Amino acid sequence: MTTALYPGSFDPFHLGHLGTTQQAARSFDEVVVAVLGNPQKQSGLFPVPERVDLVTASVVHLANVRCVAFDGLTIDLAPQEDAAVIIRAAHKDLRTERSMANANEMMSGIRTFFTAPEMATATISSTMVRTLMAQGETAAAAALVPPPVAAALRAQVLGA
Ligand code: PNS
Repeated sequence: MTTALYPGSFDPFHLGHLGTTQQAARSFDEVVVAVLGNPQKQSGLFPVPERVDLVTASVVHLANVRCVAFDGLTIDLAPQEDAAVIIRAAHKDLRTERSMANANEMMSGIRTFFTAPEMATATISSTMVRTLMAQGETAAAAALVPPPVAAALRAQVLGA
């Protein structure tokens, strides 16, 4: 039984993240999506506990996926969750991703598997969703995320 850990900020969880999670769920017995607070990304849309709820609602159709929050290093969470591998999508800055993967492997022996993003969602990023929200383009932002996240984005505008 192999458990894969998929760490990220997920602020918010978008359709690219969902695609990566689905690919991982097909490839591994269990997938743990881990919402890690990233101090370098202060101006977030949702607090970490709400991100966990939104990821959980977005992956409800995937029986072997669950979501947790963690404040610390990915490699410290991995043994707690019995995770043997780390998952990351290969659509971001690959140089940074490679050095993070190398650091994680050097410190723990845990290897990172990179998934190729699906073409339809390859260019979506959480930054793009946050930028659209900041510009009042809620409908455009909502089109890039799973339905539970879209509802939360709309609710945020109504509550503002
Ligand atoms: O979705 P993101 O913001 O690209 O995710 C980045 C994240 C959360 C995966 C990364 O910042 C991270 O792993 N943070 C936890 C600290 C850690 O383990 N860093 C890597 C070794 S230095």
